[in-house]
Order: sequence, then structure tokens, then C-alpha cells
Amino acid sequence: MIKVLYSDDGVVMLRPLTMQDAEEHHAGQDDEYVTWLDDAESSEESVRSHLADVEKAWEAGGPFYSFAIVADGKLAGTITTEVGREGLENNQADIVYGLYPATRGRGIATRAVMLVVSFLDQIPGISEAITRVNPENPKSRSVAERAGFEPMTTAEAEADENDWLSTRVSLVPAEQR
Ligand SMILES: CC(C)(COP(=O)(O)OP(=O)(O)OC[C@H]1O[C@@H](n2cnc3c(N)ncnc32)[C@H](O)[C@@H]1OP(=O)(O)O)[C@@H](O)C(=O)NCCC(=O)NCCS
Repeated sequence: MIKVLYSDDGVVMLRPLTMQDAEEHHAGQDDEYVTWLDDAESSEESVRSHLADVEKAWEAGGPFYSFAIVADGKLAGTITTEVGREGLENNQADIVYGLYPATRGRGIATRAVMLVVSFLDQIPGISEAITRVNPENPKSRSVAERAGFEPMTTAEAEADENDWLSTRVSLVPAEQR
């Protein structure tokens, strides 16, 4: 069961993303955001449909958890972690993130990733966080590296479109938590 939904490091706060974020979320996205995020939606209607799925997943307790990234009291972007995704091992959770253009260049995404890694500590069986970064999107890779992720596989070696980086969720093995 998920006990901690909110986290805050004093600069960045994460809370569950909800339908109430629809307008701001739609207005915040730029071409870069829509290009690199699978779940980015370009019309307000599709944003609402996506946020309905996000709310259902929170009610169901997974398999994905989408957070609003809040900085300076405003929505700065979103970050989602997902378990059980095709291609992942059972102990792995994937993380994807995006900031609106006005909030980039301040370390906010890196802080958000670190907070989500801490969140994952409460998901049973999850011991490893993964980010999949496209080699053509070096800013995304830099976020993962700043957050302490280490290279796992490369797009070239695996014939995948992304490089994979990973970090441990907890020093305590999953079966002992
Ligand atoms: C990927 C993305 C989130 C990176 O955003 P970002 O602002 O570069 O990342 P951070 O919030 O961690 O900020 C780091 C930048 O802030 C700077 N910075 C300033 N103050 C900082 C601080 N106190 N701490 C850390 N970094 C700081 C860093 O130097 C870095 O800038 P640089 O890349 O020019 O060196 C953003 O480009 C984006 O939203 N892209 C579109 C969506 C996307 O590609 N998502 C990835 C798919 S998983």
C-alpha cells in the first residue's frame, strides 16, 4: 500500500497529478516536451483523457504513478514512474520526466527524479529505478546522471532507441523491506 504520496526537498514538491492540473499542464508543454515524452498530449481534450487515466491509476495503486512537479508554488512539469512495463524486470520501475520551458535550467528535474526514487522505496518488490534516454536528447541523460544514475545498456549495443541508466532504490534488498 502506498503510504507517502507527497514529498518535498525544500525546493521542489511532488504531489499526485490530477484533473485540476489540465489547463496549466496543457499550456505549459512546448514542442520539446511533446517530442520526448510518450504520454505528452498536444490537445486539451487528450490532456484531460490522459489525466483521467492518471487519476484512475492513483486510485488503483498503480501500475503507474504520475506526479505534478511544483516549484515556487507553481506547476513546473510532471514526472511519472511505472512498474510492470514491457521490457522491464519485475524489480524495476521506469521514470520519465518533463519540465515546462520556463522552469528548465535550475536543477528542478534532477531534484524531482531523486524524490521519485525515494517514493519507489515503498513499492513492494521494486529495488531498481531506470531511465531510458534517447541519445539525441542529452539533457535528459544529464538529469539522470546528476541524480546518481549509472549507465546500464546503450541504444547502440542493444538495438534499442534509448540508452538505459539505473540506480538502486534502497540499500535494503527488496525482499527484506
Ligand atoms: C530533460 C529536461 C527535464 C531537463 O531539464 P533541465 O532543466 O536541463 O534539468 P534540471 O532541472 O536538472 O536542471 C539542470 C540544469 O540547470 C542548471 N542548474 C542551475 N542551478 C542548478 C542547481 N541548483 N542544481 C542543479 N542544476 C542547476 C544545471 O547546470 C543544468 O543546466 P545545463 O544543462 O545547462 O548544465 C528538460 O529539458 C525537458 O523537459 N525536456 C523535454 C522533455 C524531455 O526530454 N524529457 C526526458 C524524457 S525522460
